[in-house]
Amino acid sequence: MSAIILDGKAFAGRVRARVAEHVAQLHADHGITPGLAVVLVGEDPASQVYVRSKGKQTREVGMASFEHRLDATTSEAELLGLIADLNADPQINGILVQLPLPAHLDSDLVIAAIDPAKDVDGFHISNVGLLGTGQKAMVPCTPLGCLMMLRDHHGSLSGLDAVVVGRSNIVGKPMAQLLLGESCTVTIAHSRTRDLDQVCRRADILIAAVGRPEMIPGDWVKRGASVIDVGINRIADGDKTRLVGDVHFESAAQVAGAITPVPGGVGPMTIACLLANTLTATCRLHGLPEPEGLTV
Ligand code: GUN
Repeated sequence: MSAIILDGKAFAGRVRARVAEHVAQLHADHGITPGLAVVLVGEDPASQVYVRSKGKQTREVGMASFEHRLDATTSEAELLGLIADLNADPQINGILVQLPLPAHLDSDLVIAAIDPAKDVDGFHISNVGLLGTGQKAMVPCTPLGCLMMLRDHHGSLSGLDAVVVGRSNIVGKPMAQLLLGESCTVTIAHSRTRDLDQVCRRADILIAAVGRPEMIPGDWVKRGASVIDVGINRIADGDKTRLVGDVHFESAAQVAGAITPVPGGVGPMTIACLLANTLTATCRLHGLPEPEGLTV
């Protein structure tokens, strides 16, 4: 193995420590405690795990955590009513509605109801537009985490060829916007892309965000490239299961210059960036200077 392993677990720990320091300072200087509200509708088991983890980490950095667990049959009107209350509540600086929502709820409509200033997921159309036009936005957590790791490893990304495999609103599209903002030459590839292997081989920075276990083998990776694996896929392994990414780690690590493992790569960065975004939102809502290096 030749690649440097980009340790997201350790990096996320450093981000959380910096967030905690700023939170303590905000409280000491201004009596402000950032508050994050997380809304979960229904009983999706994966979402329950994420929401529990978000609440725990929120408290650990000294913020206030408000969890709203709603029944799977909650009506759109009830959910929109809760969001209106959270928008109006000065104790709440960040609002996150855990996705996916049950099928009878329109997630676009629900996200549009969140105050963009409190939209710590960066999913509101205003934030999408601000990011796309290079303005100060709330930036989606997973792409923000990937960018922090890339900047830390490379310094400047200017002029590098970046290929993002996956075009989701949560990862692929905002990731491409962020890399464009860093002056990369960006390609977004997806399930209909022709000669995907050749497209990937051009990448100095290869971001895999497709949700297909180990679909990118090492021989699609350019020698020395930085490989960021956003995939978290559970696969059968004998009579057990294990987590793998969208990249075939063992073969890719032979050729890459740097690579994120799964687990322990991008995954832990997502919640760390959610906390960073909540801190950023709090500072902006109070007209205070925002901490350096915790957003773009
Ligand atoms: N479900 C899976 N990932 C995410 C995320 O980043 N934000 C929200 N709100 N829901 C998710």
